[in-house]
Amino acid sequence: MDLRLKSCFRDPLLEVMNFLNEVVLRYPAAVSFAPGRPAERHFDVERSLGLAPLFVEHRTAATGWSPRAVWNDLGQYNKTNGIINDLIARHLELDEGIRASPASIVVTHGCQEGMTILLMALFNPAEDVLLVSDPTYIGITGLAAILGIEMVPVATGDDGLEPAAVAAAIEAVLARGKRPRALYDIPDFNNPLGTRMPIAARHALLALLREREVFLFEDNPYGMFSYDGDPLPTLKALDEHGVVVYMGSFAKTLYPGLRAGYLVADQEVVGEGATRTPLAAELSKVKSLTTVTTSPVVQAVVGGLLLEGEGSVRGLVRGKLPFYRANRDRMLAALEERLGDVPGVRINRPAGGFFLTVELPFPFDDECLQTCARDYGVIVCPMSFFSLSAGREHQVRLSFSYVTEEQIAEGIGRFARFVRDRVAATP
Ligand SMILES: Cc1ncc(COP(=O)(O)O)c(C=O)c1O
Repeated sequence: MDLRLKSCFRDPLLEVMNFLNEVVLRYPAAVSFAPGRPAERHFDVERSLGLAPLFVEHRTAATGWSPRAVWNDLGQYNKTNGIINDLIARHLELDEGIRASPASIVVTHGCQEGMTILLMALFNPAEDVLLVSDPTYIGITGLAAILGIEMVPVATGDDGLEPAAVAAAIEAVLARGKRPRALYDIPDFNNPLGTRMPIAARHALLALLREREVFLFEDNPYGMFSYDGDPLPTLKALDEHGVVVYMGSFAKTLYPGLRAGYLVADQEVVGEGATRTPLAAELSKVKSLTTVTTSPVVQAVVGGLLLEGEGSVRGLVRGKLPFYRANRDRMLAALEERLGDVPGVRINRPAGGFFLTVELPFPFDDECLQTCARDYGVIVCPMSFFSLSAGREHQVRLSFSYVTEEQIAEGIGRFARFVRDRVAATP
């Protein structure tokens, strides 16, 4: 047998997650600021499983079926695009001011499946290009690499994507005779940077993408984790012209083991004979051939949680915010105290989310990652892991979501010792 795999397997993007996991496993005593995991202190998986009957009650009332029929329906192959679409639509309206009909929602096996469906459905790899804010989430870039979709990175600033940079990237793609099909971004509390796009840039970006007929894939797993001031409206909430396909995830707001997320795809697809179907209905054709449906049993648990929260996810998240806010503040204070006086060190102050960025006076590469883990007992992520272009070599991503107060104090102390030793050893 010829066991050579697709050429994408040589792409370093496919190695990043395994490489990081390996380092974490090889140095179990190290404090790890690598994983973007939510804190388990807020999990109550056992209790959440007991909320399925609440959903059954809701569905019994909605369908007029007997409870027995609704329970059986949870055990059966089920509607491709989901059975909790009404509850997600209510959450979006209550929490985000997004008015989406249940028919425009695709319930997915995590946000990752939403990305898979969109790239498979909307991209013709021979001509279509995916623009991505850079650096960005490996989930999208790794997937595009597997699917053979060309990506064009768009460099971001301290406030995230800048519309002028997006405009220039679109022109450059068009000049090569390719089609910029969509732009992927995480405008709120970006992973990996922690940045947030200001309101003026949101409006300008929407106007630009509408004019150039480029979709925006707005990925928003962290928007509810806002620690300072009021949240900003999502681009989907501001979008009046079908520019945005919105990607939702319950991984951080509820818990990731549910593997539950969704797409809002309310655009109208014009078919032969001028027939119009919601994009979500077209996407169901791809979903029916990938995961068939999102587990109805899982959907019943998510539905139960949404019902318990009276439709609002923001309400469910509110009680978790003091922990995350305090962790962010602890990490910032520790970094400031231990590294604030080192020339060339710059720390951003994210207004929300799980991550912050530290810029160093030297490049932080694989070797630094290994040395840090082995000799200093701390793990941080090189920002270059998340980037498709040069320029981020001096930055690292630190996650503050999954560590305790003690780990922050100890881990930042260790990281600061590494940085100071490196600076002292650099001529
Ligand atoms: C930007 C981004 N999108 C999506 C996800 C989560 O996706 P899922 O719902 O598949 O767990 C993450 C998790 O780390 C993320 O950082």
